[in-house]
Amino acid sequence: MSLCEFKPGLEGIPAAESSISYVDGQQGILEYRGIRIEELAEKSTFLETSYLLIWGKLPNQQELAEFEHEVRYHRRIKYRIRDMMKSFPESGHPMDALQASAAALGLFYSRRDLDNPIYIRDAVVRLLATIPTMVAAFQLMRKGNDPVRPRDDLDYAANFLYMLSEKEPDPLSARILDVCLTLHAEHTMNASTFSARVTASTLTDPYAVVASAVGTLGGTLHGGANEEVIGMLEEIGSVENVRPYLDERLQRKAKIMGFGHRVYKVKDPRATILQNLVEQLFEKFGHDKYYDIALEMEQVVSEKLGHKGIYPNVDFYSGLVYGKLGIPTDLFTPIFAIARVAGWLAHWKEQLAENRIFRPSQVYKGLHKEAYIPIEQR
Ligand code: ACO
Repeated sequence: MSLCEFKPGLEGIPAAESSISYVDGQQGILEYRGIRIEELAEKSTFLETSYLLIWGKLPNQQELAEFEHEVRYHRRIKYRIRDMMKSFPESGHPMDALQASAAALGLFYSRRDLDNPIYIRDAVVRLLATIPTMVAAFQLMRKGNDPVRPRDDLDYAANFLYMLSEKEPDPLSARILDVCLTLHAEHTMNASTFSARVTASTLTDPYAVVASAVGTLGGTLHGGANEEVIGMLEEIGSVENVRPYLDERLQRKAKIMGFGHRVYKVKDPRATILQNLVEQLFEKFGHDKYYDIALEMEQVVSEKLGHKGIYPNVDFYSGLVYGKLGIPTDLFTPIFAIARVAGWLAHWKEQLAENRIFRPSQVYKGLHKEAYIPIEQR
């Protein structure tokens, strides 16, 4: 490949050297810092995994206890941020509310001391601790209620579910959400991570880094796909309608949401883990026809598109899990963001360690030597 060859979407072009996560798209392998995602989903927690991603090693007992303690006691958001969020329109998308709120943190913590490990640690803790609080606060405030104070005695995922519903969740629901966060915490050089690294490379503050990544995650081709999946399952409505629905969409070359991936050409390993969680949830809280529709879709899509390497991605089953946990559909992508903050922060730190500002080139295809036409002659 010549250096000047243009690749739409930068497909296959390395944008960084990284040791945070690894994907083998042919074999369906995902590792965080060399550890398989299946093992982390089973044995770790979201906060321990965040530590692993950000500091590059599993914490020992004391390190984990201190980290968990710090995150737990930084969950409250400033009254002024809460008041600012109160003035957001109720009809606004929670991802937009989250992007604005994350950026606003930078106004309150504007000291930019990027060479200081204490500053880095404070920013990591503050972002991991307050992003769930901000998501939950907007959810309650848009319904006209006051936000619920975080509970220091609850673990990370349990506290988030509590802040959404004011009810202490059962341990299975909290554990399943925690696993979902682990599964979504990091995924190599995707669009939002690239966005985070570009922003980080200018040496701006970490709140701007996360805010720019949240904005990028919101699109339907990236994090927003899980919302679309639920809409699609509802539209299909029954197992019998799956085949005609897919035939009609594929005929007009429309994409099937929750399927396909730039890197995975087999089933996304996170989709397999999530499918197992869906089954556990449905066993405990009752069956749901949408799961049957989803299974049929997986079968028919693999029959029709398997030759192109199109299989379920992480978004296909995550929506079913969140729906069963009683989470409103438009919070699915903000929950993805809560998880991915860990990965973005790991990339922020890695970018700072060997920084060079991103400044790619372009292939200019416009005009030259054009005359300026006075407005009255146009
Ligand atoms: N449904 C139907 N056909 C598909 C799908 C799909 N979901 N995804 C890819 N294809 C087909 C394309 O039409 C194309 O066919 P062709 O070669 O005959 O033209 C071929 O597979 C290659 O597809 P591309 O669009 O070139 O693949 P790309 O790597 O650019 O796209 C993407 C990846 C954007 C994820 C795509 O699969 C898609 O739009 N999926 C649906 C949206 C989605 O689920 N996004 C979430 C991704 S996971 C995440 O971001 C966390």
